[in-house]
Amino acid sequence: MKASEPFITQWQSPSNIALVKYWGKKGFQLPSNASISFTLDACHTTTRLAATPGDLHLSIRVNGKEQPSFLPKIEQFFKHISELFPALKNFNYSIDTSNTFPHSSGIASSASGMSALALCVVDLLADLNEESFSPELASNLARIGSGSACRSVYGGLAEWGKHANFTGSSDEYAIPFTGYDEVFNSFHDDILIVHEGSKSVSSTVGHSLLNGHAFATQRFEEAEKNMSRMKAILHSGDLDDFVDLVEREALMLHALMMTSTPSFILMKPETVAIIDAIRADRIEKGHHICFTLDAGANVHMLYPEKDAHYANELITSKLVDYCENGRYIRDRIGRGPKRIHA
Ligand code: PMV
Repeated sequence: MKASEPFITQWQSPSNIALVKYWGKKGFQLPSNASISFTLDACHTTTRLAATPGDLHLSIRVNGKEQPSFLPKIEQFFKHISELFPALKNFNYSIDTSNTFPHSSGIASSASGMSALALCVVDLLADLNEESFSPELASNLARIGSGSACRSVYGGLAEWGKHANFTGSSDEYAIPFTGYDEVFNSFHDDILIVHEGSKSVSSTVGHSLLNGHAFATQRFEEAEKNMSRMKAILHSGDLDDFVDLVEREALMLHALMMTSTPSFILMKPETVAIIDAIRADRIEKGHHICFTLDAGANVHMLYPEKDAHYANELITSKLVDYCENGRYIRDRIGRGPKRIHA
């Protein structure tokens, strides 16, 4: 970088959907249990970072408009990462970001947003000769911004959290999960938007309610086992077992919410209606369409390519009626982030 010129970089980074869920934190932004996710494709964020030498200052535009409401989270992020890399304090940052999906749609924009920003910061650190570029470092920084974001820096599947059965796994960053059966490369994720708008309880609060939760210990033990089960399923390509485990993980996440103190319910009647319809259709037709849930009311409908015609029929004949304003997003397993010429 020349002294007076800004350093500019730009990344496109996707959202992800967990198959085994992260719910509960320990220490600073470390997971209470390991998790594994599909990286998505269509749902992504593009972020351009311009860093000009000067005192630490931030401005952020979302879809071309100044968004001061996003500043506190981004300021916190820069505060934490500049403790690790003090050279980051010597810049004025101008951030331009846009999502392919509305940030109010209830789809985790923090995973794509924080991973895109972390990748830009790692480019800056490389330019400053502080660190060489690595997805692992980007994952570590993304985690500091939002836990699940650390899994978005790889294509395919990503694993986050120390687990004896996942070589090289760490609580501090995600690693790519490879060697899985080819069928998973054909997976779709149709996101049925049941409720647009922000959630009644943030995931930050949700995670904290695991402290002292009556079922926390059992959950962490079960998640540990589910990670090993999921690993075996992903290697074997056993879709019956996949469907069973993915759905139980989603419902266990929501069971934890419903049994927290205070308790809360993020599912809506339409969420349950969609779950019922997917299960009834599966029993009737013998396909492998299943559901999973994030910390919200929307339903992620997962299925392999071989079942795409069943999925289309199910959505158009039934599920679309349960979607707010008839909205759903068609997504699939993606290849991970891309650096884009700024
Ligand atoms: O990354 P956070 O802090 O928003 O937590 C997300 C947690 C879940 O989406 C519910 C599960 C997961 O593993 O992504």
